[in-house]
Amino acid sequence: MLLLGLRGTGKTVLLTEIGRNAEIEGLLVSKVEAPEKESLARLLYPEMRKVMRSLSGVAAARQIATRGLKGLRGFASVFKIKVAGVEVGVEPEPGLADSGDMQYDLPDLFSMIGQAAEAAGKGWLLLIDEVQYLSEADLSALIVSIHRMSQEGRPVLLVGAGLPQVARLAGDAKSYAERLFLYPGVGPLDPKSAAHAVEKPILDEDATIAPAALDCIVDRTEGYPFFLQEWASVAWNDAAGPEITTRDVDNAYTETLAVLDEGFFKVRMDRLTNAEVEFVRTMANLGEGPYAMARIAAAMGRTPSSLGPARANIISKGMIYSTDHGYLDFTVPLFAEFMRRQDHATS
Ligand SMILES: Nc1ncnc2c1ncn2[C@@H]1O[C@H](COP(=O)(O)OP(=O)(O)O)[C@@H](O)[C@H]1O
Ligand SMILES: [Mg+2]
Repeated sequence: MLLLGLRGTGKTVLLTEIGRNAEIEGLLVSKVEAPEKESLARLLYPEMRKVMRSLSGVAAARQIATRGLKGLRGFASVFKIKVAGVEVGVEPEPGLADSGDMQYDLPDLFSMIGQAAEAAGKGWLLLIDEVQYLSEADLSALIVSIHRMSQEGRPVLLVGAGLPQVARLAGDAKSYAERLFLYPGVGPLDPKSAAHAVEKPILDEDATIAPAALDCIVDRTEGYPFFLQEWASVAWNDAAGPEITTRDVDNAYTETLAVLDEGFFKVRMDRLTNAEVEFVRTMANLGEGPYAMARIAAAMGRTPSSLGPARANIISKGMIYSTDHGYLDFTVPLFAEFMRRQDHATS
C-alpha cells in the first residue's frame, strides 16, 4: 500500500500508527525514511539484518535465516556497506544476493526473509516514508521485490508514504505497480473530523472551545491536519480559559502564521535557487493552483521548454508536483497564500 498526499496531511502519523498496530499483532516491523540521495541498499541493510537475526532465533526458521545472513554479507560487500562488528560464523555465499544489481539482489533477500518469516509463523512489515526521494532504480527494485513476495505468497508487506507523484513514479518504474499496490489518498479532514480533532483534546482536559471559534479554525485551515494542530496549539497556550473564545482564536492566528512561515513553509523555500524561487513566485501570483505550464511560462516571458530543467529540479526537491492532468501544483497546502504573504511583507 502507498499512502499518497500533500505535506502535513498525516502520512507519517499514519505510518507510525500502522507500525504500532502491526507490532501488537506480533509482526516484525521496520520503519525507515528515504532521505534524498541515499541508496535503498544502505537504508534497508540494517533493517534486513535485524529481521534476519531475530528470525534466526526461531528454531524452525534458523536454517533459512542463517542463509539469509550470508546473502546479506555478500550484499553488504558488493554495495560497499560498512558492516559493524563481525558476524561470527557468517561467511558470504558466492552468487547469493551479490550481483550488485538491486533488481536481482533485493528480491533474493526479501525472498529469504519471507521464507524464514513463514517458517517462524511471523510476518514482516516494511514501512518506508518519503518514497518520492528513492531513485528510479531503487524504486524499481523495491517494486520487483514486493511483486515477488506477492507471487510467492510470502508474509511480507510494504506500506509506503509519499507525495502524490509517487503513483506516477511507481508506474513509470514498473507498469504492473498500478495493480500491485493500493493507493489510498491522505488529504484534509472533512469539517466534522477536523472539528473533532481540535475539540476532543480540549474536552479531555476539562476545557471548552466556543462553537464560533471552532468553526473559524476548521474553515480557515481547510481541514489540513498540520494547520489545525498548530493553530489549536497556539490558541490553547494563549487562552486564559477555561473556554477558548473567538477572540483567543483570532489573536492566535497571527502567531500561528508566523510559526508556520518560519517552520513549515520557509524550510522548504530555503532549498530553492533564486531562479527556482522566481518560478514558484510566478505560480503563486497566478492565484490558486493547479497551474498550466504554458501559463507560468507566459507570465515569466519564457518558453515552456526553456523552463523544463527548473521545473524538474523543483519537483525533485519535493516542492511542486505534476497533477494527473499534467498541471503543476504545490505539494504544501495553502502554499500560494504563503508566497503572496511573503512578497507583501518584503515589498
Ligand atoms: N488525523 C489527525 N488529526 C489531527 N492532527 C493530525 C492528524 N494527522 C496529522 N496531524 C497533525 O499534522 C501533523 C503532520 O502530520 P504528518 O504525519 O507529519 O504529515 P505528513 O507526513 O503527511 O507530512 C502531525 O504532527 C499532527 O500534529
Ligand atoms: Mg511525513
